[in-house]
Amino acid sequence: MTKIAIVTGGTRGIGASISKKLKSSNFKVIANYTSNDDAAKSFSKENNIEVIKWDVSSYEECQKSVNKIYEDNKNVDILINNAGITRDAPLHKMSRDNWQKVIDVNLNSIFNMTSLVINKMRENSFGRIIHISSVNGQKGQFGQTNYAATKSALIGFSKSLALESASKGITSNVICPGYINTEMVAAIREDILKSIIETIPNKRLGEADEVAQMVGYLVSDKASYVNGSTFSINGGLWMD
Ligand code: CAA
Repeated sequence: MTKIAIVTGGTRGIGASISKKLKSSNFKVIANYTSNDDAAKSFSKENNIEVIKWDVSSYEECQKSVNKIYEDNKNVDILINNAGITRDAPLHKMSRDNWQKVIDVNLNSIFNMTSLVINKMRENSFGRIIHISSVNGQKGQFGQTNYAATKSALIGFSKSLALESASKGITSNVICPGYINTEMVAAIREDILKSIIETIPNKRLGEADEVAQMVGYLVSDKASYVNGSTFSINGGLWMD
């Protein structure tokens, strides 16, 4: 039976590479997106991947879409919690809105999506859940109290979920990418980004496909003993 995978934020950046990798590994992929209709449409057409628009920070929208996915596909075997945003500012300049938005999209979405698939995975005695965190959740970053708080929270969430789910054939793991060549990183001011790259031992940005390769392994049957782990892919920027 073809396994079904949901990739949140799966039409751009790291998520798009993950969607493509899973498709090429013969999974049926449903790529979620929230805002950029044009990018989603062309991604879907180019890659023959189903895309569905909903806001992962809204429990009601997640519930509606996940129910529909179950109706259409019967199962969800793989969940990649990838959707995330930044609203960078040092805390002394951070608005309450930019705090809340990042918490809602990066963290509350993890509860929304995971709680909506976990029971069926438990019934099926199979599941693969991967949370895309960040090097900045591990080490902290100037201007990212909001983002770093959510990204380190994913690690605690994932380890707890792994403990609860191991006996049911479900694994929960975290990947912490470093600075990857995506629109999110390209939005950093040029001089700041240059100074960040100078601190990366490999002296370059990572590629989204380098993250997707790790996802490809973690969702495979061969990775059933990898559980509750955190994987860094950051060119040596943080060694943990
Ligand atoms: N450490 C210490 N001090 C720093 C600093 C740092 N890393 N960066 C800046 N400062 C200091 C500056 O020297 C400056 O000091 P003075 O006022 O004495 O001159 C002061 O802080 C203000 O700096 P900025 O002018 O940069 O402040 P700003 O308010 O204009 O910008 C910012 C703040 C938007 C956060 C900007 O610093 C920035 O973009 N930083 C990079 C944040 C970052 O790495 N984001 C990652 C986004 S991609 C991502 O998140 C993906 C992933 O998972 C890796």
